[in-house]
Amino acid sequence: MCGIVGYIGHRDAYPIIIKGLQRLEYRGYDSAGIALFDKDLKVYKKAGKVSDLENFVKDLKLEGSVGMGHTRWATHGAPSDRNSHPHSSGDRKLTIIHNGIIENYATIKETLLAKGHVFKSDTDTEVLIHFVEDIQKETGVDLREAVRIALNKVIGAYAIVIMSADEPDLVIAARKGSPMVIGVGQKEYFIASDATPIVEYTKNVIYLNDNEIAYIERDNLLIKNIDNTVQIPYIHELDLKLEMLEKGGYEHFMLKEIYEQPRSIRDCLRGRIYPQEGKVQLGGIKEYAEKLKNVDRIIIIACGTSWHAGLVGEYLIEEYARVPVEVEYASEFRYRNPIISERDLVIAISQSGETADTMAAIELAKEKGATIFGICNVVGASIPRTTHAGVYTHAGPEIGVASTKAFTAQVTVLTLLAFYIAQQRGMIAQSKLVEYLTELNEIPELVERALKSNDRIKEIAATFIKTNNCLFLGRGSSFPVALEGALKLKEISYIHAEGYPAAEMKHGPIALIDEAMPVIFIATKNSSYEKVISNIQEVKARKGRVIAIVSEGDVDVKEMADYVIEIPQTHEAFVPLVATIPLQLLSYHTAVMRGCNVDQPRNLAKSVTVE
Ligand code: M6R
Repeated sequence: MCGIVGYIGHRDAYPIIIKGLQRLEYRGYDSAGIALFDKDLKVYKKAGKVSDLENFVKDLKLEGSVGMGHTRWATHGAPSDRNSHPHSSGDRKLTIIHNGIIENYATIKETLLAKGHVFKSDTDTEVLIHFVEDIQKETGVDLREAVRIALNKVIGAYAIVIMSADEPDLVIAARKGSPMVIGVGQKEYFIASDATPIVEYTKNVIYLNDNEIAYIERDNLLIKNIDNTVQIPYIHELDLKLEMLEKGGYEHFMLKEIYEQPRSIRDCLRGRIYPQEGKVQLGGIKEYAEKLKNVDRIIIIACGTSWHAGLVGEYLIEEYARVPVEVEYASEFRYRNPIISERDLVIAISQSGETADTMAAIELAKEKGATIFGICNVVGASIPRTTHAGVYTHAGPEIGVASTKAFTAQVTVLTLLAFYIAQQRGMIAQSKLVEYLTELNEIPELVERALKSNDRIKEIAATFIKTNNCLFLGRGSSFPVALEGALKLKEISYIHAEGYPAAEMKHGPIALIDEAMPVIFIATKNSSYEKVISNIQEVKARKGRVIAIVSEGDVDVKEMADYVIEIPQTHEAFVPLVATIPLQLLSYHTAVMRGCNVDQPRNLAKSVTVE
C-alpha cells in the first residue's frame, strides 16, 4: 500500500517521478504528492489520483534533479490534500514520504505537542518527520544521525524517503517491513516501492533490507543498519521488460492479464514438468526433497485470492500426496497460538510477496521451528527473501488490483507441488504421473479455448448488471473457484457476492433465492456432476436464475440453466485452472458495464502492507 518513488542524479526528476507514480498507482490512489529540490525544497500534493496531481502542477515549471513522490492508500487520516504526502517538519526544512504505519505515533505526538509542535495533518507520517526535527534540535546531531535515532524509537512498519532543504544533494531512504528498491545508474540513483518505475533506466537494483538506512548522493551510496554498521549491498539484475508494464492495446490491465493466462501458465510449467518421463522438478525446493518425504502436515497461509489458491492446493495435495493440509488466513493465524512443530511445512502464498499479515504469519511459524516455503510472483520481494525455499509463479507483473493471472499461476504451482510431493513420497505411480503431466501440459491451450467464450460472457454479464446480490456455488476443488468468482465480482463491480460449497446452500443461503438472484454454478463433468445437478434443480425450483459453467457438449445442465458457458473438458485436478477464466471475464464485463474502475477499484490496493 502506498507507492514511493525517488530520484537523485543528473536528469530532470519530475518526469521520472510522475511516471513512476503512475506505475505504482496500483498500490494506492487516494492522493498523490511530490517534493522537488529546485533552488529550494518544494512540495506539491493533491487528493485524488496521480492524474489530479499532474493537472494541479501542469502550469508550473518543475525543475530539479532531486525529488520524490508518493501515491497514497489512506491509513491514518482521510484522503485529503492535507493528509497527502510529502509531509514536512515544523520549520519546513525536512520533508518525508512514507509507506506503512508508525504504531507508536500517538505517544510521540503527545510529547511533541507538549513541546509546542503544531501538526497540519492527521497522519502518523507527519509525526515521524517532526520527531526527526526535534531530535536534531534537541541533540545537535546531523540529519543522518537524527533519522537513525528516530527509527530506533519508532514501532511499526515503514519505507520512507527524506529530503532536506539544508542538504540538497542527499536523499535518505529506509525500510522496515515495507518494500524498497534502489536502482543503481551512472551517477544517479532511483528509489521505489518496486522495480517497475526503475526498469527503463537501469537493470541494476538493490533490495533494501529491514532496518537498513540508505544515504544516497549522486555518486555515492552508503547503506547502514540502524545500529550504525555499514552494510555491503548486493546488486541484482532485473528480469523485467518494459512492455510487461503496459496495457498492450487492451482497455484495462485486468483484461490484458486475463488474456495472458495461456502464456503465464505455460511459463509457470516451463522446465518444471517432463510429461514423457513422468517427472516434476522444482529447483527452488530441491534441497528439501528429503524433508518432504517425512513431513507430518502442511499449513498454507495466505490472504484474499492467494488464500483461495491455497484451498485448491489443499484438495490437490491431500488427494495426490496424501499429506494432511490446513489452509489458514494469515491474519488469523498470526494472532492465534498455533500448534506447529519442526515436522510441519508451512507454505506462504502471495502474489506481491509483501502482504503484512502473511509476513507476520511466516515469522511466527519460523520462530516455532517450521520449514517455510514461499509461492510468490514478485521476484526479490520480502516473502521470497524470508522463506527457507520457494517456487516463483512467473506470471509477470500483475497491475490490475484484482488478481487474475497470479491466481491461476499459484494454482499451477500448487498442482506441481502436489505431484512433486506425491513423487517424493512414492504416492503416485510413474504411469499415472505421465498421464497427469501430459494433460497438465495442455492446460494453456484449454485456457486459450476458454477465453473464446468472451463474447457470450459479455452478453450474459449484460443481463445482470442491475443485480445487487449473487451466489457462486461449486463442489470439491470448484468450491474455492466459486469463492474466487465471488471475490472478483464484489471487488470490481461492488455487487454483493457469496461463494459457497454447493451442498451448503440448503443450510442457509437457499433462503435468499428468488427470481432476482443469479446463482452461478461450476457444473463441469467431474465426480460431483450429478450432485451439482441436484443443487441446480433446488435453485430452479425456487425460481433462481442459473448461470452454469459446464463442460463442452453438456446436455443435462443446458436443459435446466438459464445460461451456460462451455469450457473444455479436463481432468478434475485441473478444472480450477480452466473454470476460473469465465468467472474472471464475467466480473470484468459486469464491472465495465456498471461503469466501475476495474483496474483501481475503490478502497483497495494491490499490495496490503499494513495489517
Ligand atoms: O499479494 P498477495 O497475494 O499476498 O495479496 C493477497 C490479497 O490482498 C489479494 O489476493 C487480494 O485479495 C486481491 N485484491 C484479490 O483480487
